[in-house]
Amino acid sequence: MKLTTKLLAATAIVSATSAGAVDLEVMHWWTSGGEAAAVAEFAKAWDATGNTWVDGAIAGGGDVARPVMVSRILGGDPPAAFQFNHGLQAQELIEAGLMLDLTDVAEAEGWEDIVNPPSLLDACTYEGRVYCAPVNIHSWQWMWLSNAAFEKAGLEVPESWTEFVADTEALREAGVVPLAMGGQSWQQSGSFGVMVVALAGLDNWLAVNRDKDASVVRGEAYGEVFQAFADARDMAEGLDVQDWNQATNAVITGDAAAQIMGDWAQGEFAVAGMTAGEDYSCLPGLGEVAILDTGGDAFYFPVVDDPEITAAQKELAALLLSPEVQVAFNSVKGSLPIRGDVDLTTVNECTQKGLDLLAAGNTMPSGNQLISPDVNTQLNDLMTEFWNTPSMTAEDVQERYAQIIESAS
Ligand code: GAL
Repeated sequence: MKLTTKLLAATAIVSATSAGAVDLEVMHWWTSGGEAAAVAEFAKAWDATGNTWVDGAIAGGGDVARPVMVSRILGGDPPAAFQFNHGLQAQELIEAGLMLDLTDVAEAEGWEDIVNPPSLLDACTYEGRVYCAPVNIHSWQWMWLSNAAFEKAGLEVPESWTEFVADTEALREAGVVPLAMGGQSWQQSGSFGVMVVALAGLDNWLAVNRDKDASVVRGEAYGEVFQAFADARDMAEGLDVQDWNQATNAVITGDAAAQIMGDWAQGEFAVAGMTAGEDYSCLPGLGEVAILDTGGDAFYFPVVDDPEITAAQKELAALLLSPEVQVAFNSVKGSLPIRGDVDLTTVNECTQKGLDLLAAGNTMPSGNQLISPDVNTQLNDLMTEFWNTPSMTAEDVQERYAQIIESAS
């Protein structure tokens, strides 16, 4: 706990205006317009309990934020809570005994009965103990399209990746960049993963990401996706942006026609006042394979030697999963609630498509649930090198991708 935070907490307790009120510093990487609006819902709910949310936003995305969080924790100056993705990112911190055991909260709140799909609670569970509070389901398996851009080019909004590819030339002629892509490596690597599922099918994706079968990477189906990804690289020429939300913004303005991005993009469309179906369209599974991955975010709570803080951390963990907070947060974030027993108040047509897929059980694990952070970084580095090196061929990247998977097996 930061000294200032500790002092603030102590002052709050001593002042006794709200007995037991505690300041908790919460670290996350939610800094885009939509993300900031969503995290404000958490802060509002926590502040309403008489405690105070001390916002520890880190700009630059998860790849920048996670090492900062880890170094704060390892350096003995942990925040009270921090965001990670569902999956394996916190495993070493848990093994080192640095994460608060939330099993009593999970039992008291009945998480086993309410968390849906159960794999999200499994992802928080290590050797039978619960170490995180899942807050949303975010899927990568989407493409977002600007209706205005297609109209400008005299085209119908496509209903699949295949139709989209056929539109590329007409979009270019109309002065529209077909595909928006930002410069961060996770965006390029994540988009490739979505294309694999859509174009080569889930079984091939699982063979590589779950079973680490490098022969599948070297096979024909994956080869075609590497080629399609090389074509996507050409489609993205002409837009030079870094952050994912800047790329989303190009779709919002109609400068670009489409973006492959997780459903957090919906938060940006909402902040821009755009309506799903009218101003923008969405294709889960790129309109090829109707499926969602069950990635998303969870909060972890570092162990601190202060019973008052520990009690407040547990209170916050319970609050994040409460029905009201789940609805308020996820409605703004563009994500789906992690409990099956709540209804989002107003659902647009894209969120409805997501809810339908979830209800039908058309789900798959996220990459973070199957691939270690280290291997993930290697794949991200490779895919960004490919994206930024026009002379690198689909065959080159295919072989190097296979080697990384081979060494991960
Ligand atoms: C993801 C996270 C989302 C979203 C996105 C972009 O890792 O799960 O909540 O914010 O990053 O920042």
